Amino acid sequence: MTAPVPPPVVAVSGLARSYGATRALDGVTLEVRPGEIAGLIGANGAGKSTLIKVLSGAVRPSAGTITLDGRPFAPAGPLDAQAAGVQTVHQNIDDGVVFGATVAENLTLDSIARRGGRWFSTPARIRAEAGAVAEAAGLALPLDAPVETLPAGARQQIVIARALARRARLLILDEPTSTLSAAEADALARKVRRAAASGVAVLYVSHRLAEIESLCDRVIVLRDGRVRRVFTAPLRRAAIVEAMLGEFAAPVAPVDAAAPADRAGRRTVGAAVLTAAGVRAAPGGTPFDLDLREGEVLGVTGLLGSGKTGLLQQLGGARPLVSGEMRLCGAPYRPAHPRAAIAAGVAYAAEERSAQAIVPGWSVRAHVTLPTLRAHSRAGLLSRRSETAAARRVSARFGVKGPGAEAPIETLSGGNQQKVVVGRWLEAAPRVLLLDEPFRGVDVGARADIGRVVREAGTMAVVVASSDPQEIVEVADRVLVLHEGSPAGELRAAEATPERLAALMSGGAA
Ligand SMILES: Nc1ncnc2c1ncn2[C@@H]1O[C@H](COP(=O)(O)OP(=O)(O)OP(=O)(O)O)[C@@H](O)[C@H]1O
Ligand SMILES: [Mg+2]
Repeated sequence: MTAPVPPPVVAVSGLARSYGATRALDGVTLEVRPGEIAGLIGANGAGKSTLIKVLSGAVRPSAGTITLDGRPFAPAGPLDAQAAGVQTVHQNIDDGVVFGATVAENLTLDSIARRGGRWFSTPARIRAEAGAVAEAAGLALPLDAPVETLPAGARQQIVIARALARRARLLILDEPTSTLSAAEADALARKVRRAAASGVAVLYVSHRLAEIESLCDRVIVLRDGRVRRVFTAPLRRAAIVEAMLGEFAAPVAPVDAAAPADRAGRRTVGAAVLTAAGVRAAPGGTPFDLDLREGEVLGVTGLLGSGKTGLLQQLGGARPLVSGEMRLCGAPYRPAHPRAAIAAGVAYAAEERSAQAIVPGWSVRAHVTLPTLRAHSRAGLLSRRSETAAARRVSARFGVKGPGAEAPIETLSGGNQQKVVVGRWLEAAPRVLLLDEPFRGVDVGARADIGRVVREAGTMAVVVASSDPQEIVEVADRVLVLHEGSPAGELRAAEATPERLAALMSGGAA
């Protein structure tokens, strides 16, 4: 006898939503049952976030119906959906925090909004309630700090903690781990499983397939706004990738196949480009020397707060050197700001896309050419033709999907925005390129494309920072592991496995 299948918490039927000529959702039908963790996956621009915005009341569908616990559900707005028990963590975390407010206020936004007046929301009450929310989520956060002073991962955790603290029937998480390290992602997975065990239905979006495999009971694959396949555990990665990417599946195979050992012998690296002596990843860290050679890809990995970004920022002139000195092609190199570094041939692509790389309202073309405006100028005038050609090259090389080069960048899906802001630097081809978390939010196909271009970048020397050991193993010739601001080990590609890197990252031996 089989157990009766409980009725779904949420059932979606024939859901559609277009933006101009783009059919973001093109007749989506799916359901999620109580206690189930359903993975929602698909290539960048497949429609995942649009579906989530509809379910969470942020966007109205143009056709189709939704039921929640068997009753018609057409939320008038996000608060309406929340009140009905649909709790959502959106992909763009900064949609979920209020800059200028403290961490405590951000943790308790719901009760502040609910209670309305200042009467109940005294600082002491807010702090006490925030402390309880943080503790329930197992977070140690500086409650009085302005939220914008926290790193992206911490802001993400605030948004997640708040969603988990609410009464939920349906919990929706859109790429919740994109800014988290493996340990934090594991902690989140435990919380998600606990929520499901209590009967909540979970819809979970991620581009990290390992995470999907270990967490989800079922995987719904969206492509071009439609559900293409639904897989039930045990899940097979190759089949999932094929369903995600359709006819474009073939080029992705090398992601898993690219054994570092094969590569190590083939790669030849040239002369030292950037050398650093006695530098520190963070104040208080152990000083070390670093040399970066032509054609080399150096991976830098470590947990959140281990000093990856701090190191890259120093190399790229975005932050003063903590100690030591640097040389670029033999000459002293001490950039006072990123522009000086770029002029010397060292470019830093920052980790936080929405805060540091995106100018809302600007076109895709303008984003592509921003770092290289001079190269697109003729006699002091910007050449539109040259700019458009560059935008087309970047779009073609990385498969940027969206409404075109003249569209405002925010109309691209998150992963496609990421392809633009990383791709423009690969197009610019500086001497040294520093990429901080370049794979964040990009699908497996684009990850392979970015990885390939990084690896075939001629004499350009590339530093890739990522908290995901798997990403590092796929792309790097050599890996520097940081732990609490100090080097914890350096491995050649042939020796670097995700397991060894993970051990070093958490302060153990390789
Ligand atoms: N405000 C908007 N204006 C115009 N087009 C939009 C807008 N929002 C989304 N789109 C388009 O809708 C499509 C689906 O986008 P969506 O954000 O849902 O993709 P996604 O599956 O979440 O991708 P990602 O993995 O990159 O986050 C994309 O082609 C995108 O360009
Ligand atoms: Mg999305």
